Amino acid sequence: MAIWLLLLFLLSPLLSSSTTTAKITHLFPSSIIHPEQLKISLATKTTNKLYKEKFYTQILDHFNYNPQSYHTFQQRYLINSKYWGGANNNSPIFVYTGNEGDIEWFAQNTGFMFETAPHFKALLVFIEHRFYGKSMPYGGNKVIAYSNSTTLGYLSSTQALADYATLIVDLKKNLTATDSPVVVFGGSYGGMLAAWFRLKYPHVAVGALASSAPILNFDNITSPFSFNNIITQDFRSESEKCYKVIKRSWQEIDETAAKPGGLEILRKSFRICKNYISAGSLKSWLGTAYVYTAMTDYPTPSNFLNPLPAYPVKQMCKAIDDPKTGNNTLEKLYGAANIYYNYTGDAKCFDLNDDSDPHGLGGWTWQACTEMILLTDGNTEESIFPASNYSYNDRLEFCKEKYNIEPRPSWVPMEFGAHHIHRVLKRFGSNIIFFNGLRDPWSGGGVLKDISKSVVAIVAKEGAHHVDLRFSTSEDPEWLKHARKREIHIISKWLSQYYRTLDDSP
Ligand SMILES: *[C@@H]1O[C@H](CO)[C@@H](O)[C@H](O)[C@H]1NC(C)=O
Ligand SMILES: *[C@@H]1O[C@H](CO)[C@@H](O)[C@H](O)[C@H]1NC(C)=O
Ligand SMILES: *[C@@H]1O[C@H](CO)[C@@H](O)[C@H](O)[C@H]1NC(C)=O
Ligand SMILES: *[C@@H]1O[C@H](CO)[C@@H](O)[C@H](O)[C@H]1NC(C)=O
Ligand SMILES: *[C@@H]1O[C@H](CO)[C@@H](O)[C@H](O)[C@H]1NC(C)=O
Ligand SMILES: *[C@@H]1O[C@H](CO)[C@@H](O)[C@H](O)[C@H]1NC(C)=O
Repeated sequence: MAIWLLLLFLLSPLLSSSTTTAKITHLFPSSIIHPEQLKISLATKTTNKLYKEKFYTQILDHFNYNPQSYHTFQQRYLINSKYWGGANNNSPIFVYTGNEGDIEWFAQNTGFMFETAPHFKALLVFIEHRFYGKSMPYGGNKVIAYSNSTTLGYLSSTQALADYATLIVDLKKNLTATDSPVVVFGGSYGGMLAAWFRLKYPHVAVGALASSAPILNFDNITSPFSFNNIITQDFRSESEKCYKVIKRSWQEIDETAAKPGGLEILRKSFRICKNYISAGSLKSWLGTAYVYTAMTDYPTPSNFLNPLPAYPVKQMCKAIDDPKTGNNTLEKLYGAANIYYNYTGDAKCFDLNDDSDPHGLGGWTWQACTEMILLTDGNTEESIFPASNYSYNDRLEFCKEKYNIEPRPSWVPMEFGAHHIHRVLKRFGSNIIFFNGLRDPWSGGGVLKDISKSVVAIVAKEGAHHVDLRFSTSEDPEWLKHARKREIHIISKWLSQYYRTLDDSP
């Protein structure tokens, strides 16, 4: 079972069906990138600070009126008013609806908002999702907040949206900017939140840019085979040979592991640190690299999950197809793994058991055990991974064991809608952009066709996971520039419509 973090993944032993659920503790792919590195690379990009950090006293439970639910916690938000045209001009407020991690990380990867703010004279606000980063209930104590289902029970998308609404309204009041229009932005889970926010709180936000938001990846609406089909296609379209090497490698790894001294051969081939290794952990580590590389197959060098070159899938296949490696599969795979785990060249050895979590994504395990049942485990016979039928039961058992709870797979579609989305949103929704890049495995769960004049899909065949929201670079391809231009154009339309009709009704 694999619970891929939305933007990313969690719980990765996708290839080790033999491992028991208890072993599934590897929350985040081993990462060699340290938060300081991120900050430095960003600091060199911008001379002045991108934002100020603020805290807001937030209600723990928006939906219950017993005395205990009046507990509060400190919710972090980041604000940049450098470009804002001010309350007197009713200049707009752009809000990023934070997802499952440290909000600074998302802000630093959402250059689109910083780069369009001067044009729109927009105030920028990035709100951190409860239970992540510094927005920890229970006095900021993460250990207590993550204790058990009693405390984690307050971690839900519905509470998070209510947080965003109350914070935005309070901030506008403080700024005497009650008539400033708000546009929400988000990528991945944050994109789902942005779209849902527009639907649930139309009186707070005039529109939403939901980038790579797989709002249909629930309740069998999207096939559980779709995710891995897209990854397969990404590699296969690069090189049929490369696809075949990876596809056949799983068995070879198992066979090597079964030989006497086989694990030591594997350990040495992959320069794995002298700690525990099993065929399962190796396959899972490799699988993680393929999945995340496909997700972040950006057209320019990037540093989102790990530092990567431009078009990293192509680079991986180049390493695999390298004639110097002859027919040595392990050497080929090592070359591929080096692209994802060692692009900087700094890794001394690879730690397969590294469960460091530099971006604070751990709370996703709870979300993936309650509402976020985004099944992605299916692998057809053609898959680059071993064929497997997806199983909701694996998830169920894992969640029972870990939290003693049962997921509610149908709650998200019940709460926000997902079935017959075209029919429903055509009649009821407005002002949402759904961006998807078709190389992104999550795009299979996205809205890929226009729903109405104002609920539109922007689809980039060559695009990866919320690539549109990233800082622009001088090497950006035309299709990416074009997608961003369209987004700016549509947001402008929402705003002018808002201003035109502002005085129509008191
Ligand atoms: C859950 O965690 C809280 C905070 O650590 C603790 O007070 C409570 O006793 C725990 N509840 C259960 C059922 O373990
Ligand atoms: C608005 O101002 C009050 C009073 O200073 C403050 O407590 C609150 O945190 C502010 N709201 C926001 C969203 O910053
Ligand atoms: C999804 O489909 C599978 C196979 O058809 C079925 O067993 C399962 O119950 C379905 N799940 C949901 C949530 O509808
Ligand atoms: C490829 O593998 C075969 C055995 O399967 C071996 O005979 C041959 O020498 C290998 N070629 C290279 C270039 O390693
Ligand atoms: C990482 O890359 C550098 C430079 O290519 C290399 O010297 C080093 O051995 C690699 N680390 C591992 C663990 O393979
Ligand atoms: C998946 O299920 C189908 C239909 O039940 C079955 O024919 C197939 O062998 C299964 N595949 C795997 C890999 O278990």
